Amino acid sequence: MAQALPTLNLIGAGRVGQTLAQLWTRNGVLQVRDVLTRSIASAQAALDFIAPGASSGRALAHIADMRAADIWLLAVPDAQIGACALELATHAGQCGDAPALAFHCSGAQSAALLRPLRDLGWSVASAHPVLSFASPQAAAAQFPGTPCALEGDAAACGALQPWFSAIGGACFTVRSEDKVLYHAAAVLATNFAPVLQALAEDAWRATGMPDTLSLRLRERLLHNAVNNIVALGPQRALTGPAARGDHAAIALQADVVADWDPQAAAAYRALSVLALRLAGHPPEPPQA
Ligand SMILES: NC(=O)c1ccc[n+]([C@@H]2O[C@H](COP(=O)([O-])OP(=O)(O)OC[C@H]3O[C@@H](n4cnc5c(N)ncnc54)[C@H](OP(=O)(O)O)[C@@H]3O)[C@@H](O)[C@H]2O)c1
Repeated sequence: MAQALPTLNLIGAGRVGQTLAQLWTRNGVLQVRDVLTRSIASAQAALDFIAPGASSGRALAHIADMRAADIWLLAVPDAQIGACALELATHAGQCGDAPALAFHCSGAQSAALLRPLRDLGWSVASAHPVLSFASPQAAAAQFPGTPCALEGDAAACGALQPWFSAIGGACFTVRSEDKVLYHAAAVLATNFAPVLQALAEDAWRATGMPDTLSLRLRERLLHNAVNNIVALGPQRALTGPAARGDHAAIALQADVVADWDPQAAAAYRALSVLALRLAGHPPEPPQA
C-alpha cells in the first residue's frame, strides 16, 4: 500500500506559498490540506492553483477552522509572521494538537519568530528561497536550482532539506545569529543595481542623451559588468577611477554630481571609498 504523504497547511498563500505548495503537490512530496488567507476567495484561488481539481484541500479564513497537519508554512508578509505564529499556537494549544513542524520563508527574520510554537514542543525553521517570486506561475517554472537558506531547529531543517531538494531547491544552512547580515548581503548583492542604474540614466538624461542611447549603454555596461564579475570576481572586475586610485577624478565627479543631485553625490562618495578599499588604494589622496 502506498504510504500517505506528509500533510501541509498554509497560512498565507501568495506568491511564495502558492509556488512551493504547487511544486510539492505536483511532485508528490507533500499533500496540501488547509489553506488560510485573508479571504475565502483568495484562499480558494490559491488552492485552485496549487492542486487543481483536488478535493482534499479546504480554503479557510479562520485559524480556528484549520485541521491538524504535519507541516505548517506561514507564508504571510514578514510583519504578520509573529502574530500568526501566536494565533496558531493558541489554536493548537486549545485543540491539544500533537507538536508539528512550522516554518516561514522570510530572508531577514529567523525562526525565533515562531517561538510560541517552539514553546509547545514544535520544531521550527525558516527556509528562504533566493529567488524573486514575480508570480506563482513564473516562480514555479524558475524554481529548480534555487538556493534555499535553512535556519532553525536541527530537526526542522533536517526535514525541510529533502522536501526542498525534491523540487529542485539547493539547500544550505545559515546560523540564526547571522540571518540579518545574510539578508543584508543579499540586498547588497542585488537590490542596489536597479537603483544605481536608474540614477545613471537620470544623469545621462540630464546631459541631453536620448533614451534610446542610454538604453543601449545600460545593456552594454550591465552585461559587461556581470560577465566580468562572474568570470573574474568583484576585485578584478572593478574598473573606473577608484580602480586606478584616481582621487582627483573621484573628487571632481562627486562635486559635479552634487550640483545635479546631492543624495546621489553622497552615494557616489560612499561607494567610491568602498571601491578604493576593494582596489587596495587608500581612501584619501596620499599627502604630497
Ligand atoms: N516575494 C518574494 O520574492 C519572496 C522571496 C523569498 C522569500 N519571500 C518571503 O515569503 C513570505 C511571503 O511573501 P510573498 O511574496 O509570498 O507574499 P504575498 O504574495 O504578499 O502573499 C502574502 C499572503 O499572506 C496572506 N496574508 C496576509 N496577512 C495575513 C494574515 N494576517 N493571515 C493570513 N493570511 C495573511 C495574503 O492573503 P490574501 O491572499 O488574502 O491577500 C497572501 O495570501 C515572506 O516572508 C517573504 O519575505 C518572498
